[in-house]
Amino acid sequence: MCGIVGYIGHKNAYPILIKGLKRLEYRGYDSAGVALISEEGNLNVYKAKGKVADLEAHCQEKDITGYAGIAHTRWATHGEPSSANAHPHYSASGRLALIHNGIIENYLTLKENLISRGFTFKSDTDTEVLVQLIEHIMLSNSLPLLEAVQVALHQVIGAYAIAILDREHPDTVICARQSSPLVVGLGSDNEFYLASDTSPIAEYTDKVVFLNEGDIAVLQLGKKLQVVNMDNVKQHPKVKQIDVTLGQLEKGGYPYFMLKEIFEQPDCLRNCMRGRINVDADRITLSAVIDYRKRLIEARRFIIVACGTSWHAGLIGKQLIENLCRIPVEVEYASEFRYCNPVIYPDDVVIAISQSGETADTLAAINLAHEAGAFVFGICNAIGASIPRQTQTGVYIHVGPEIGVASTKAFTGQVTVLSMLALCLAAERKTISAEQYKQMVSELTKVPEKMEEALKINKQIEKLAPIFTYAKNCLYLGRGYNYPVALEGALKLKEISYIHAEGYPAAEMKHGPIALIDSEMPVFVIATRDKLYEKVISNIQEVRARGGRVTALVTKGDEQIRKLADHVIELPDTLECFQPLVASIPLQLLAYHIAVCKGKDVDRPRNLAKSVTVE
Ligand code: G6P
Repeated sequence: MCGIVGYIGHKNAYPILIKGLKRLEYRGYDSAGVALISEEGNLNVYKAKGKVADLEAHCQEKDITGYAGIAHTRWATHGEPSSANAHPHYSASGRLALIHNGIIENYLTLKENLISRGFTFKSDTDTEVLVQLIEHIMLSNSLPLLEAVQVALHQVIGAYAIAILDREHPDTVICARQSSPLVVGLGSDNEFYLASDTSPIAEYTDKVVFLNEGDIAVLQLGKKLQVVNMDNVKQHPKVKQIDVTLGQLEKGGYPYFMLKEIFEQPDCLRNCMRGRINVDADRITLSAVIDYRKRLIEARRFIIVACGTSWHAGLIGKQLIENLCRIPVEVEYASEFRYCNPVIYPDDVVIAISQSGETADTLAAINLAHEAGAFVFGICNAIGASIPRQTQTGVYIHVGPEIGVASTKAFTGQVTVLSMLALCLAAERKTISAEQYKQMVSELTKVPEKMEEALKINKQIEKLAPIFTYAKNCLYLGRGYNYPVALEGALKLKEISYIHAEGYPAAEMKHGPIALIDSEMPVFVIATRDKLYEKVISNIQEVRARGGRVTALVTKGDEQIRKLADHVIELPDTLECFQPLVASIPLQLLAYHIAVCKGKDVDRPRNLAKSVTVE
């Protein structure tokens, strides 16, 4: 939520900042702004309501140059989306400009205090309170900016990643983080980049520093990166090398990132398995399992914590781990878990699943698990993000940057890692036979090919999509491994087409949703050949008997359901436990094409953000 970019060096900062904001637009896009210090020494702020393109249009006629700049794309928390509430915010005298990602929880108390001292505010944001507070501390105590920031941050409760420009010191950008991500890029030519993630930085440098909790960084021209904490204790940042190609950050000829990412999935899964499943496809090696074998195989229980799509992957993980390893698994929404006084035993293993590795609720759930002495295992995509750094071990899904707000390849990457983890643990615990293990590992390696086959139905789905655009409500049904697929299919449709959709376990339909079924309500049933196949057929009959219109996802060659359903989408066969990897594809495509037919902005659905760094 909210994206931050900054630059200081010898190039004109404006184009770098705008390009960076576009790369970060998945984090928020209700307003955007940029601040630059001009050659004459003026600190200029330009802001616009709407997307980054609106900011660009607003700036078009203006001559904007500067070698130090900060920029922000916003996802509103405090104050409606408007130009006034957009960042950067000026301090009272106009000497400072600040951008912020996060929430200052005690902003009202701080604001009232400042108002009692005669301060006035131009916006409804918590951010403006912070910049006014910093300047007030700086001027009233004659402190340098760094010290004023340290004093101010001691007074702040909440989450933040901030960057500040000071008109009086045009050679410096100061930034800080607490519970919101911030990465500094070290350019080759005495220059610094700054961003919420590596995507705006990757095209300029591969050397980055992921700031740690409580770090304050000073980016000063001609000096080395200086990092201290709030108490001015020097920190020793580690420089990391990143490996992100430009192609991964661009649409590569596809109209939307979401479609590109759907089509990337076969290769993403190959990357995810590469080096982990050997060439003979008969053995999986996960270093996390080698390093922590005993802790993992002797776990009393696994608790999976996640949000959104990652939670759906967790539901599939539960079935995989329980079926294959016979270890009990609970799956919790991180946002509920953190406040429900959960029972956590020291011999539990808590698995945190997160694409971004920055979700605030998932991070809070991890902290709770640490406090209870449990072992914490992360499954993340973004390399070097907070969650992988705050877990004892874990497995990266390695599907590359996911930019479309609706998660697709991260979901199948997460399910792939959970499949490999379950198989590894099952082999260690000997809860499946050697033969079964070998057969399953070999089948897992064939899934990318099967996904490629499933992607061939894109044209069929594109043709089918227009008939669903009228729908106000849709129902998605599945059982067993396909129940989370139904949930995820419904979520995709809701997120990008704004059609209300519900995922349900097919048999539960009788206990409520069946009352909604009529000829206006499309019902999507995942009815692949598995042990519950016959039962799902009965569920289809129940829908038909009430005039419902059924679109069924079936195993290739299924003639029985073809006779019952209005539309069938055929899928290549695979093992039941890997079916979600294949069956998700047509549901992702369906949501995509319905949203495109409805003229929606697929990559930037309203009100959503890809990385939810506030609770
Ligand atoms: C947001 C995104 C979802 C994502 C969820 C959890 O809601 O829009 O796509 O599934 O956050 O994010 P995480 O990064 O923790 O997987």
